[in-house]
Amino acid sequence: MLRVTTLYDNYQHIGNLRTNWGFSCLVEFGDTAVLFDTGGDSPTLLSNIDELGIDLARVQALVLSHDHGDHTGGLQGVLERCPGLKTYVCDSFSPRTKREVTGGGGELAGVTGPIEILPGIHSTGELGATIREQSLVVDTGNGIVVITGCAHPGIVGIVRKARQLVKGDVLLVMGGFHLMGTPGPVVERAVADLKDLGVQKVSPSHCTGDAAIALFREAFGDNFIAGGVGLVVEFPVK
Ligand SMILES: [Fe+2]
Ligand SMILES: [Fe+2]
Repeated sequence: MLRVTTLYDNYQHIGNLRTNWGFSCLVEFGDTAVLFDTGGDSPTLLSNIDELGIDLARVQALVLSHDHGDHTGGLQGVLERCPGLKTYVCDSFSPRTKREVTGGGGELAGVTGPIEILPGIHSTGELGATIREQSLVVDTGNGIVVITGCAHPGIVGIVRKARQLVKGDVLLVMGGFHLMGTPGPVVERAVADLKDLGVQKVSPSHCTGDAAIALFREAFGDNFIAGGVGLVVEFPVK
């Protein structure tokens, strides 16, 4: 079973969790667990983790999508609970953030090209020209799930890259799609491109923006999954 649980988001999916600007999710895949991003601050992240009854000791790796505070802000709190945690950052991250990993007791792993972090769990590698970012691609055996932090390099390009990297239908794309303030026709183009790429379900959240989320909801109908903290999505694994 692949299970992805949103731990930190500015949108609320279930009521008893704290919201704040940022994103983080836990990816549980068979016997492995990877934390993707850490939200904007440790207290909010750890409070949600505790509320959900998640034991961080099970986490084998942390992947930070990009070097923005709303994704790296909970790093300290995570490393305090997971001493020595292997932490995958883009090579282009600032020396300051890299020092936060090593200074906090984490084991720093720099990412440039695509890599398989744990069996079936891939990073796209650093994408984008200005703000460099990596996304996760999980291979369920029945198709792939793509998870983005902010999608600064562009959500369509990320999914295209993910499909080149790991064969299979795109079961779900979730996370921040970075479409806040983007004109409607441009969002509609992205929706059409994702559909052309065979994306079956979407769960846009974090920095996607209300207007773009509404367009995705309309375009995907029953295949739209409302995002936000507390969301759990599950897929069978072959
Ligand atoms: Fe963000
Ligand atoms: Fe960002």
